[in-house]
Amino acid sequence: MNYRLHIYDDPELTARALAELISEKAITKANNSQKLNIAVSGGKTPSILFTLLAKEYRNAIPWNAIRFFWVDERCVEPTDSESNFGMTYDALFRYAFINPENLFRMKGEAVPEDEAVRYQKLLWDELPVRNKFPIFDLILLGIGDDGHTASIFPDNLSLLNSDSSVEVAKHPTNGQKRITLTGKTICNSNQVVFFITGINKSEIVKQIANKNTEAKKYPASYIYDYDGSADIYMDEDAATKL
Ligand code: 6PG
Repeated sequence: MNYRLHIYDDPELTARALAELISEKAITKANNSQKLNIAVSGGKTPSILFTLLAKEYRNAIPWNAIRFFWVDERCVEPTDSESNFGMTYDALFRYAFINPENLFRMKGEAVPEDEAVRYQKLLWDELPVRNKFPIFDLILLGIGDDGHTASIFPDNLSLLNSDSSVEVAKHPTNGQKRITLTGKTICNSNQVVFFITGINKSEIVKQIANKNTEAKKYPASYIYDYDGSADIYMDEDAATKL
């Protein structure tokens, strides 16, 4: 299993370690007149990081060097409480120190199938390409209680091997349509970082880390395993069963 563990006392300290990682990468890119292309996930966990970035890193990071893309998006309006972009806007972008030209959101309000095509083209236009897939500098992932990551759920493992960079997915219980990066696109990234907190994730983390046969059901375990060595940033609660 190719992954590195980074365990911290609590969610805030874990978020701070991630903020430092992003800051260092952005400064290096800015010093070389380059851009840091990051794809971020939604859900609740990342809001801890985005809130910290807004509060304490406004002056520490060369924000114009960072370009934000999305790992996945719920097919809702950006103003909907379910929206991943909306969550990030509320936590970070609304403070208006990040140039909107550096935000490449998935349009949850669009026809899903059309948006998957549009976003795939956008990635090919905006990012370098390697092995026939666009390359992100860093992809920030979470993990669901069912072992999903991005919007790749256990009932649709084929998204891990799709030759498309972006596909339409569906949440297995509520049927909500999603736009998602695919497994090969995620694994083509220069760096994959998981941000996992809370005791409710400890069992899934243990099963994936121990390569239990159960873990073969979990999309996240395939991403943990990718050649580029995923970095797993966790708090003590999520790591409690390791
Ligand atoms: C989404 C996310 C999803 C998320 C996990 C964990 O759109 O929901 O991209 O993959 O990372 O569901 O979510 P929490 O951080 O809320 O536990």
